[in-house]
Amino acid sequence: MKVDVLLGLQWGDEGKGKVVDVLTPRYDVVARFQGGPNAGHTLEFEGQKYVLRSIPSGIFQGDKVNIIGNGVVLDPALFKAEAEALEASGHNLKERLHISKKAHLILPTHRILDAAYEAAKGDAKVGTTGKGIGPTYTDKVSRNGVRVGDILHNFEQKYAAAKARHEQILKGLNYEYDLTELEKAWFEGIEYLKQFQLVDSEHEINGLLDAGKFVLCEGAQGTMLDIDFGSYPFVTSSNTVCAGACTGLGVAPNKIGDVYGIFKAYCTRVGSGPFPTELFDKTGDQICTLGHEFGSVTGRKRRCGWVDLVALKYSIMINGVTKLIMMKSDVLDTFETIKACVAYKMNGEEIDYFPYDITDEVEPIYMELPGWQTDMTKMQSEDEFPEEFNAYLSFLEEQLGVQIKIVSVGPDREQTIERYTEE
Ligand code: GDP
Ligand code: IMO
Ligand code: MG
Repeated sequence: MKVDVLLGLQWGDEGKGKVVDVLTPRYDVVARFQGGPNAGHTLEFEGQKYVLRSIPSGIFQGDKVNIIGNGVVLDPALFKAEAEALEASGHNLKERLHISKKAHLILPTHRILDAAYEAAKGDAKVGTTGKGIGPTYTDKVSRNGVRVGDILHNFEQKYAAAKARHEQILKGLNYEYDLTELEKAWFEGIEYLKQFQLVDSEHEINGLLDAGKFVLCEGAQGTMLDIDFGSYPFVTSSNTVCAGACTGLGVAPNKIGDVYGIFKAYCTRVGSGPFPTELFDKTGDQICTLGHEFGSVTGRKRRCGWVDLVALKYSIMINGVTKLIMMKSDVLDTFETIKACVAYKMNGEEIDYFPYDITDEVEPIYMELPGWQTDMTKMQSEDEFPEEFNAYLSFLEEQLGVQIKIVSVGPDREQTIERYTEE
């Protein structure tokens, strides 16, 4: 068997959590392969809303196994809070949630370092989620990290060594902090973590594939936040792209099956960095209000703009996307016309590829299409789609070269329409 991979094609928050939840009944296992509690994956069903940060979004579907892979960075304190809240609402996790021993731990001092580095950058700050993501991945790559498996052996020593190193850096940065509360919650989290099945997830997943099981890999963030291919340095610190599923779970490249690429019918971004199609006008505010575009982790207002097909084509290429999923089209239901960026103007020249030196000066060139001006939120099948909406889908498919297989018309699990287009 092969794994399918589902990932974001824009700057995150495309709606990955919702779609993973919708697709989970078709799989036996859902596995997260990178990122950490910087993610906020929202699911809505039966009038309830949940935001997941480290736990995969397949957790609400019956007895499915969910795996936190080696490519993830885990904060035990935040994990405990998230898992306990789910357990309190009646979801049994201990049997079904497996955690890789090779996943790296976010230490309290990683969080402090994240804040200290951001403060030191001043106006050039990345606008991180403040969860210690960058410093934890830095320690992983510099071979100084503490892993989940370490909590079983010589843990105190490893923790103390890492903490001492971090405190030395913080002293150099002249950064004031208090670890008391953070450390208390963190050590409680470590004890809690010991109650879970800590596994070699690469063996588990490959064994499941050999046994004919269906595995869905869930990405966090989005391709434009990828450490290598995103709008560097305004990115996260992991490989959010499809290749990240190979390294973050121990799945060989020839075991990748379908790649589901998710995008919003428009575009958003949280934090700093270039965003060519960003709108600073009434339309931008309208998208923000109608789309409730506020961060699910930090509550920060998301920057909003039109869909960027130049960036999307780039993401599709990097990930080898085989199926597209378009989210939040209902947010545009009332618009008279809809714009899509088909090229950029840069230094007086028109380009149709995503450039190395993307800056705020890049000017989008738009195609304008008629809006459908129809409430689509209660639609059940593609037969009900308005003509203008079908025209918009055809336009996007022609531009992007990949079929749009699922359209999401609202936040609820039920507001999802599958399209039965021919392959
Ligand atoms: P993720 O990080 O990719 O899982 O996405 P987030 O959960 O951070 O952000 C997506 C937001 O859009 C959440 O508040 C979802 O409940 C909501 N959402 C998802 N799909 C739709 C949709 O089709 N329409 C609308 N209006 N909201 C949606
Ligand atoms: P999901 O999985 C949107 C952004 C931050 C910041 C940059 C680096 O919910 O789509 P970090 O804390 O990772 O060092 O921050 O990346 N960012 C996200 N933006 N959705 C996310 O996750 C994000 N995770 C990180 O805002 O600009
Ligand atoms: Mg999110």
